Amino acid sequence: MSDTSAVTQSTFPPSADFAASANATADLYDEAERDRLAFWDKQAKRLSWDAPFTEVLDWAEAPFAKWFVGGTLNVAYNCVDRHVEAGNGDRVAIHWEGEPVGDQRTITYAELKDEVCKAANALTDLGLVAGDRVAIYMPMVPEAIVAMLACARLGVMHSVVFAGFSATALKARINDAEAKLVITVDGQYRRGKPASLKDAVDEAVDGEDSIEHVLVVRRTGIDIPWTEGRDLWWDETVAGASTEHSPEAFDAEHPLFLLYTSGTTGKPKGIMHTTGGYLTQSSYTHFNVFDVKPETDVYWCTADIGWVTGHTYIVYGPLSNGVTQVVYEGTPASPDEHRHFQIIEKYGVTIYYTAPTLVRSFMKWGRQIPADHDLSTLRLLGSVGEPINPEAWRWYRTVFGADRTPIVDTWWQTETGSIMISPLPGVTETKPGSAMTPLPGISAKIVDDDGNQLEPGTEHGEQPSGYLVLDKPWPSMLRGIWGDPERFKETYWTRFAEQGWYFAGDGARYGKDGEIWVLGRIDDVMNISGHRISTAEVESALVGHYGVAEAAVVGATDDHTGQAICAFVILKSSAKGGDENIVDELRAEVAKEISPIAKPREIHVVPELPKTRSGKIMRRLLRDVAEGRELGDTSTLVDPSVFEAIRASK
Ligand code: WTA
Repeated sequence: MSDTSAVTQSTFPPSADFAASANATADLYDEAERDRLAFWDKQAKRLSWDAPFTEVLDWAEAPFAKWFVGGTLNVAYNCVDRHVEAGNGDRVAIHWEGEPVGDQRTITYAELKDEVCKAANALTDLGLVAGDRVAIYMPMVPEAIVAMLACARLGVMHSVVFAGFSATALKARINDAEAKLVITVDGQYRRGKPASLKDAVDEAVDGEDSIEHVLVVRRTGIDIPWTEGRDLWWDETVAGASTEHSPEAFDAEHPLFLLYTSGTTGKPKGIMHTTGGYLTQSSYTHFNVFDVKPETDVYWCTADIGWVTGHTYIVYGPLSNGVTQVVYEGTPASPDEHRHFQIIEKYGVTIYYTAPTLVRSFMKWGRQIPADHDLSTLRLLGSVGEPINPEAWRWYRTVFGADRTPIVDTWWQTETGSIMISPLPGVTETKPGSAMTPLPGISAKIVDDDGNQLEPGTEHGEQPSGYLVLDKPWPSMLRGIWGDPERFKETYWTRFAEQGWYFAGDGARYGKDGEIWVLGRIDDVMNISGHRISTAEVESALVGHYGVAEAAVVGATDDHTGQAICAFVILKSSAKGGDENIVDELRAEVAKEISPIAKPREIHVVPELPKTRSGKIMRRLLRDVAEGRELGDTSTLVDPSVFEAIRASK
């Protein structure tokens, strides 16, 4: 077999060719090591500033950081106008591929500038001013990117809500941010069929006093409900606006966007990012980790703009670097499993960034599908969202990368804003399954309960795992949780308060060369196909059903999705025995309250839940049950015999 080397090989150095022309060389580590702040000063200067900053970092009010103090800039200018001014207006910014085959658009940087200016003028006419919030609830259409950039241009914060979220989830986010405007589409294509999205928006904005308008992009042409005076068509409002718009410069710490993410309670957190630091690190990491050559590369990140990966590595990173990218609207199996490979072939994609769960889908579909296509343009592959299992890593390298392309396994979070731990593709000798080491300029450690750094691993035998912490501030760090500074401190900064470190919520261990192996979340956040969902959110959706008295949810290991949601519910006596379809109803309830992606894989109706004497549900033990393991220590349970009943119900 041709792939034997990738199967047995344990480390993968970059080829001499790749290393010779790589954007980042080993010097970058030395430079950052010598003077971290001078290093970030230099990275920030890759951007165009209106007023220069006078100080790189002000950490006096930790954990509330100020980066690039006193500097002013406009993010949209940096992502669009300056490339046009540099003579690259004719370069393609976006090759957009719609889900229906044949639906495509090509947008150059000059055209993107016109679109963003028109949208900025239209939003201004609607009364939006710097500091306002706009909810964007859209599939992957070019207008979604235009809308984000138009907000950025005006200093208006966008809050993008994944279009797979339910009306209830959208409503909670609109309400928390007190958004004035929702930008959406009439409908979206999902596996070949148009489905309304506007209906969900109507349900979500009902009774929300903050909402003044709903701006609707015509995507599918389906019939939708309409509220005169409130609802506006994008093609009537934006299309006629002027393409002239002067960007205003905003302070480096002016808020750029909110992005809601799951935490350990049922209430999603509005993670807040600001202007100068976020763009600096997004641009720097995109340039060096993906080794982009804007003149020649065709980059494709398969994420959705509803998640942070779409924000940083579809919108702000690539556009700030002036690259050409592919944006695809649909699902990977539409109309069949060849779609991604056809797109790679059609546009000559050179850099491909995706999630392990998708790599595992491709593995399941088999090698014959990629073998039917010419993938030889690919020169770099990326992974994000969850630990990539070594088997999937090797398959990715062999089948996508012809056993020659480097793979960058990038660890980061909504909160970190951009990549923190990753190989540099022209420097690092990678190991399948490890995100390797912190990037130049970034500091991370794995520590024990008391904050002592763990030792590097040994050749044989696993090292103990510990907590992954970020022990120094970084430019694209979150600046807070919207409206809740206390929750910000408590969530991230109390576990190692004495040391002043950020605790990421992940467990990790060191390998023998000191490289980092991220093991996954150790809090009550689950990771389903790279999507963050908290156990508390799903529990609260379940107990919202009239028949449920109590619910406990755990994430169990799943070969395909990384983790899968397993729920244990106690029914109210009124519901017991009555409704045979209760499990289906509960799954539907979760889809309605959160999203279809949060539907439990398993729901077990049980007579009791395992609790400690203080009434805390022992999720650890439920995980043991869900994963079919021997039970761990049950001595703190009030009634260890509950497990017989739970097992019997499985
Ligand atoms: C997990 C996605 C291992 C991790 C960018 C983190 C990863 C959470 C990796 C953040 C990776 C992300 N290796 N685990 N390369 N990338 N994670 O906020 O548990 O959606 O805390 O950001 O995903 O998820 P979020």
